[in-house]
Amino acid sequence: MLDIRNINVYYGAIHALEDVTVKVEPGEIVAIIGSNGAGKSTLLRTISGLLRPRTGTMSFKGKDLTTMAPHDIVRAGISHSPEGRRIFTNMSVHENLQLGAFIRKDAGVADDMEHVLKRFPRLRERFKQNSGTMSGGEQQMLAIGRALMARPEILLLDEPSLGLAPNLVTEIFNIVLDLNKEGTTILLVEQNANRALEIAHRAYVLETGKIVLSDTGKSLLANPKVKEAYLGG
Ligand SMILES: Nc1ncnc2c1ncn2[C@@H]1O[C@H](COP(=O)(O)OP(=O)(O)OP(=O)(O)O)[C@@H](O)[C@H]1O
Ligand SMILES: [Mg+2]
Repeated sequence: MLDIRNINVYYGAIHALEDVTVKVEPGEIVAIIGSNGAGKSTLLRTISGLLRPRTGTMSFKGKDLTTMAPHDIVRAGISHSPEGRRIFTNMSVHENLQLGAFIRKDAGVADDMEHVLKRFPRLRERFKQNSGTMSGGEQQMLAIGRALMARPEILLLDEPSLGLAPNLVTEIFNIVLDLNKEGTTILLVEQNANRALEIAHRAYVLETGKIVLSDTGKSLLANPKVKEAYLGG
């Protein structure tokens, strides 16, 4: 479904991704784990078209992504819930959700809004509230809800559990599992490697811009190198 082959991405002279190859099949949850600065967010930003690979290829369902405009990438079925939430804090919950559907002209937007509000009852309670005044967890839910309003086939999630209390982390991971069961393919970036590997069908370990390991989530959870470096020994 998503086929990233040998991409090289730079920020000026900084070589942020080196020959990165990642594949995602329909229906999978694929996790990318790695330390701060490994290049996880860079990878998602490149898939979304916000950064361009200098070399390498990227395709989604056979369509070339390397030169596609970001809004066309959303239209093709790829939606990104970015790190740090990046919601429009001066707008209401309702307005943020509407913006998530900006590429759509179909009649299903209202139904999808209802679906998102059912999944996140808190967003319904806060529908007219200025989103900047919501808690961190509520803002995270809004960021995911907004990404879902594009009705994606694949959802790119950048650190959805960052900064949340443990019970909310569990809730977010359960939501990711539910979305996947309903048919959304997931590419999940997480520093919470334990939780991510538990729910991922497959995962990749990114170290300073390079993929150093890839395997099933289960195998990586049991891998001594991964345990030592990412799972607290
Ligand atoms: N706009 C930028 N300009 C220059 N360098 C950047 C820029 N954005 C990221 N980098 C560098 O690229 C590298 C990868 O950053 P990236 O944000 O992808 O890491 P990450 O794995 O998402 O880290 P974290 O877990 O902290 O979110 C880092 O060394 C970072 O400093
Ligand atoms: Mg990041």
